[in-house]
Amino acid sequence: MELPYSEPFKIKMVETIKKSTREQRLQWVKEANYNLFKLSSDKVYIDLLTDSGTGAMSDKQWGAIMTGDESYAGASSYFTLKNTIKELLGFEYMLPTHQGRAAENVLFSVLVKEGHIVPGNSHFDTTKGHIEFRKAHAVDCTISEAFDTTFIHPFKGNVDLEKLEKVMIESGSKVPFIIMTITNNTAGGQPVSMQNLREVRALANKYHVPVFFDSARFAENAYFIKIREKGYENASIREIVKEMFSYADGMTMSSKKDGIVNIGGFIGMRDKDLFQQASTFNIMFEGYITYGGMAGRDMNALAQGLREATEEDYLEYRIGQIAYLGNKIKEYGIPVQEPFGGHAVFVDALRFYPHIPQTEYIAQLLGIELYIEGGVRGVEIGTLLADRDPDTRMDRLPKLELLRLAIPRRVYTNNHMDYIAAALKNVFDRRNELQHGFRITWEAPIMRHFTVDLERIPTTNQ
Ligand code: F0G
Repeated sequence: MELPYSEPFKIKMVETIKKSTREQRLQWVKEANYNLFKLSSDKVYIDLLTDSGTGAMSDKQWGAIMTGDESYAGASSYFTLKNTIKELLGFEYMLPTHQGRAAENVLFSVLVKEGHIVPGNSHFDTTKGHIEFRKAHAVDCTISEAFDTTFIHPFKGNVDLEKLEKVMIESGSKVPFIIMTITNNTAGGQPVSMQNLREVRALANKYHVPVFFDSARFAENAYFIKIREKGYENASIREIVKEMFSYADGMTMSSKKDGIVNIGGFIGMRDKDLFQQASTFNIMFEGYITYGGMAGRDMNALAQGLREATEEDYLEYRIGQIAYLGNKIKEYGIPVQEPFGGHAVFVDALRFYPHIPQTEYIAQLLGIELYIEGGVRGVEIGTLLADRDPDTRMDRLPKLELLRLAIPRRVYTNNHMDYIAAALKNVFDRRNELQHGFRITWEAPIMRHFTVDLERIPTTNQ
């Protein structure tokens, strides 16, 4: 019998989580104006809001914390991190930042100007936010297969090269760079193939523009290349990672994901001139170039985390656990994005609630129902997140309306996965009892989903 994957760790410390009653949750979620970001975490039993900064550090990482060097300039922890990044990812220059969006802010302060067009596969919301804030435009060139949750494609994170070339032909002089998000979070944690990265590089060379990777989940992406892309079966994760980044001029990183730390980010670059320009913004926004908003101890933990995240045993467990949850949910007949992504299972709200209009924020509705049912907190990746069009101020209805169940790294067991799937099944069985979703009572002008207030649209039988 083939042995199944299992956790390549044992548990040394535990944190108690508390259940609540359905009545309590009904009350709490109403008080939070149906925005799950507004719930205090003690009101959540299993927290799948994000895999960002929520992972469990290893004993080696905690050990590294104790030997952090907190010198303002030239700390040894900075050099440990810098050397690790050079060794694993291949970038000569590095700037630490306090998280991923800070890396975007610093890099885009150098590169993005008003009227620019920044094409790529689906930009993450902070990436798009930093582009639009500078009065530039993000153009999503993800392959159309990604928007059909039932279509099986091994690399749904890929960019459509024809769409990308069209952008280059039409607005080439306005394109400061191409950005590739690996994995493609917005499309469902879907990986980008090595071939696609290679072809994007070739296209960028043809039009003389640089390529940057938004690398938050680069290690998960590498594992998918290993198990799905011909020719990489026998390559090590580290070899794959090296080749992936060889196609990039630079990268931004949210270390809170595949760095397996609770806070942190960085920018990796090859070009000295870019590094020097970005350094000025780093000093203004983040901190001196050898700490950039991070404590020395956190840089130490990150260096160790990057090593652990690029170990094959770890990734087999990581991707295996997501698939375990995904398969359970699928067995119950619940519509999910397939193949399953690297950090989360995405439930398809358009197929879950086909009888309720998308304009009533149905992925949010699904998230609220799951919370009320089991105290499980997911996050909407749909119309609330997609925000309004900056020109027309109309809601942008995205092609995918998803509830993301993001799994923190090394935190929950498969018994938790069984619980989550059962709670979702109960919500699914009662899906026809609901006739309406929500309407907005207050929203911020940008990135509204974090703070939006909602109310239920009343119906007679709700
Ligand atoms: N890029 C991607 C692909 C991301 O998923 C995130 C964050 C960022 C950039 C920004 O990084 O949070 O460190 O500032 N994603 C989190 C999530 C918030 O829940 O998916 P950050």
